[in-house]
Amino acid sequence: MRFNEQVVLVTGGGSGIGQQVCLAAAREGARVAVGDLDAERAEQTAAQIRAAGGEAHAFALDVTQPGSVNQFVNGAEAALGGLDVLVNSAGIREIVSVLDLSLEEWNKVMAVNTTGTFLPSQAFARRLVALGRPGRIVNLASTLGISAAPNRAAYTASKHAVVGLTKEMALELGEKNIRVNAVAPGVVRTPLTERYFQDPVQAEVIRSIHAVGRWAEPAEVAHAILFLAEERNGFITGAILTVDGGWTIGKKM
Ligand SMILES: NC(=O)c1ccc[n+]([C@@H]2O[C@H](COP(=O)([O-])OP(=O)(O)OC[C@H]3O[C@@H](n4cnc5c(N)ncnc54)[C@H](O)[C@@H]3O)[C@@H](O)[C@H]2O)c1
Repeated sequence: MRFNEQVVLVTGGGSGIGQQVCLAAAREGARVAVGDLDAERAEQTAAQIRAAGGEAHAFALDVTQPGSVNQFVNGAEAALGGLDVLVNSAGIREIVSVLDLSLEEWNKVMAVNTTGTFLPSQAFARRLVALGRPGRIVNLASTLGISAAPNRAAYTASKHAVVGLTKEMALELGEKNIRVNAVAPGVVRTPLTERYFQDPVQAEVIRSIHAVGRWAEPAEVAHAILFLAEERNGFITGAILTVDGGWTIGKKM
């Protein structure tokens, strides 16, 4: 199994992509720390892993708060006996025009998506360096970390920042044996995006922007995340892996 004897921490592990990462990592032998603002959903993910014979701990986590982040990283190490992989999947978005976007909305999205990637990554990397251990971080960027779409100014800016942070941390931490990569998914059907699919016209637009003519399921993104987190892919760092069904290749004529 690819993650045997390894400890994998996941923020936003109570739902969507993060939850699929937790389940897939556990199937590959990992002991999993499931962190989420929604502690009940984190516990549900952990319980699902334990019911299948795996090992998992749930943590109430707010990625915007340094104290909560430190408790998550330290608690995971204490409960599961190590630190190997961090996946930053906690994220939110607002859909509002740039002219109407409030400072409060902007700050909230930046706090969760950008600061909420920086704080866990820094706490995790600091602990690895103190322990003299190698490790891997995988961030959730987005196609909107590479390109733009209307009415998503805060989200697009926050994900471009995640791309920059990924490259910066990969550069600084490479010689410490810590690899940092990101995935940039297209539209994935999760609770975050479920509203799109209630409207057939919008669902068709979403389907058609992807070269493959469909949206993604969260398990497909989880596979790509675990690929980047695998020990044997040790020469991949600072990469932004599009998992976007061809969305960003170009427009269909
Ligand atoms: N779904 C998509 O189409 C898509 C596409 C590209 C990128 N992404 C990114 O993937 C990540 C996961 O998205 P998803 O679709 O699985 O969303 P989701 O809403 O299903 O899951 C996100 C989880 O993050 C948690 N969360 C929110 N704020 C938090 C906080 N302050 N601290 C800790 N946890 C918090 C939520 O409780 C939720 O469980 C996000 O970063 C998102 O931006 C999603």
